Amino acid sequence: MKILVTGGTGYIGSHTCVELINSKHEVVIVDNLYNSSESVLDSIETITNVRPKFYKIDILDYEELEKVFKDNKFDAVIHFAGLKAVGESVEKPIEYYENNISGSLNIYKLMKKYNVNNLVFSSSATVYGDDFEVPFKEEYGFGTTTNPYGTTKKMNEMIISDICVSNKDLSAVLLRYFNPIGAHESGLIGEIPNGIPNNLLPYIMQVESGIRDHLNVFGDDYDTVDGTGVRDYIHVVDLARAHVKAIEYACSHKGCEVINIGTGKGYSVFELLHAYEKASGHKIPYEVVDRRKGDIATCFADTRKAKELLDFEAEYDIDRMCIDAYRFMSKLNKKI
Ligand code: NAD
Ligand code: UD1
Repeated sequence: MKILVTGGTGYIGSHTCVELINSKHEVVIVDNLYNSSESVLDSIETITNVRPKFYKIDILDYEELEKVFKDNKFDAVIHFAGLKAVGESVEKPIEYYENNISGSLNIYKLMKKYNVNNLVFSSSATVYGDDFEVPFKEEYGFGTTTNPYGTTKKMNEMIISDICVSNKDLSAVLLRYFNPIGAHESGLIGEIPNGIPNNLLPYIMQVESGIRDHLNVFGDDYDTVDGTGVRDYIHVVDLARAHVKAIEYACSHKGCEVINIGTGKGYSVFELLHAYEKASGHKIPYEVVDRRKGDIATCFADTRKAKELLDFEAEYDIDRMCIDAYRFMSKLNKKI
């Protein structure tokens, strides 16, 4: 199939392009390179021997985006492009709503105009908020989001499901990701955070490399195994494989499905920290500080729907996630 991947040079997008190419799909990437670099195309080519067609375009630019739909007859779209920093979204709500909502509407309008009827959208476990018991189940629907970023994910889910009601030809899979970490085993693609990392593993990786002096552990008084927050970390390559299954599912079904993508297991901050210490062979200094506002104690997925509908199950464990992340970071440090 010929698949448009928006945000395809980004962290999850680049790994997904590799898995799509490995599964013999043709990939066309649209990205404005706001949070990624064109060199990712070289890495995708080195890994797969295929260089995806690339358009450096902002999805807010409807006219330029339309040219991509005119030039290519797509079978499907995987829509990753968007802004994703939770804290920044509180500071810059207009930019987040414009990029993540108006940009997405351009994609959905052009899909309709050019009769492209299969879509996978990047949603997030953040739409469950703090309102439900773990494991989070798709049928819970939405909780209360605590920041504009989370609200844009919830709004996109609502917009897509409304479009599905009006357009019976459209098939959409809304993937609610839990916590993607790790990198491709080649060490050539992975996550390069812009500025100070917000997420746990990127922060740990920078402490281990000497970029930051210690990790702040946000609270050790939660009702969890060791008092620190518990999350469902999933290897980004597993997540990428889930996208291949999701887009193939979308192409063979009609309607709109929300599907969690996680491992179904939760690990605490200290458990992840120790797994990365093991992978790197180095002790990582930390300090326990106050809880971070908006954090919940425990978050992990009910993974049954992904198994039932997509026949998807995550394969890689937390040690493998850390080994691959460490390999990527080591290569990156040599480049810097
Ligand atoms: P990323 O920032 O690495 O990738 C997003 C890509 O989109 C970047 O390459 C960026 O340049 C591009 N982009 C942003 N705005 C654009 C625009 N207006 N036009 C064209 N390109 C644009 O992020 P990621 O971690 O790969 O996340 C991909 C998607 O998954 C995002 O929608 C994100 O919200 C969602 N998501 C990510 C996580 C996570 O933990 N990484 C969790 C849940 C959901
Ligand atoms: C965060 C976002 C969420 C987003 C998700 C994946 C918030 C409030 N939520 O969630 O919307 O979908 O990332 O991108 O930002 N931790 C530390 N020290 C750190 C960083 C994190 O102790 O420096 C702890 C946190 O308190 C948490 C765990 O590590 O218990 C994981 O944090 P993080 O990686 O930011 O992910 P989420 O909290 O799940």
